Amino acid sequence: MTAVLISIVAIGAALLVAVMVIGPALFGAPWHPISRKDLKRALDFCGTKPGERVVDLGSGDGRVLIAAARDYGLLGTGIEIDPLKVWLANLRVRFAGVQDKVKIVRANLFEYDYREADILFIYLTHQALDKLFPKILEQLKPNAKILCYRFCIRNMTPDKVNADKTLFLYTLNKGTWVNQFR
Ligand SMILES: C[S@@+](CC[C@H](N)C(=O)[O-])C[C@H]1O[C@@H](n2cnc3c(N)ncnc32)[C@H](O)[C@@H]1O
Repeated sequence: MTAVLISIVAIGAALLVAVMVIGPALFGAPWHPISRKDLKRALDFCGTKPGERVVDLGSGDGRVLIAAARDYGLLGTGIEIDPLKVWLANLRVRFAGVQDKVKIVRANLFEYDYREADILFIYLTHQALDKLFPKILEQLKPNAKILCYRFCIRNMTPDKVNADKTLFLYTLNKGTWVNQFR
C-alpha cells in the first residue's frame, strides 16, 4: 500500500515537473532558469541604474527580478504564462521582501504591452525572438535596453557582446535607425 502511494506521488511529481518545464515550450520557450552566476554577470553587463524598470519576458520562478530588485535597486515586472510559476515567483518575491518593487503578471508575452520597460531581459528561443522582433520595438521607450541571454536578435547588431557570446546588449536609439526594421 505504501509503495503504491509513493509511486503515485512520484509519478504525479514527475508529471508536474514535465508540465512546468516542457509545457511552456508550446507557447514560446521551455523553462530553463538562468544560473545564479550568469544572472549576476548579466545584470552587471547591462549597466543598470537604480529605479529603472526591468521586464523579464517569461519570468519563470522570478529569480531575475528578485536579484535585480534586491541587489541593484531596480523595479521589476515579470510576464509568465504558467500559473504555477506565477504562484511560485510571487511566493519567492514575498520571501525575499521585494514585493513593493516586483510584480509578476500572468500573461502571454507575445500579447503584453512593453511601453513601461527601461530594460527588457530576454531568455527565450530564436523562434520566440523572431516572433517578437521587430514588432515589439514600436512599443519601447526611445532609449530602452534589451538584454538577451544565449539567443541574439536576428537583423539587429548588439552594442555589446560578452567574451563567451552568451550576453547581447542592444540599446535603442529611436529616430535614427528603428524605422529600418519596418
Ligand atoms: C528559458 S525560461 C527563462 C526563465 C527566466 N527568465 C530565467 O531566466 O530564469 C522561459 C520562461 O518563459 C515562459 N514562457 C514561455 N512561453 C511564454 C509565453 N508565451 N508567455 C509568457 N511566458 C512564457 C516559460 O514558462 C519559462 O518560465
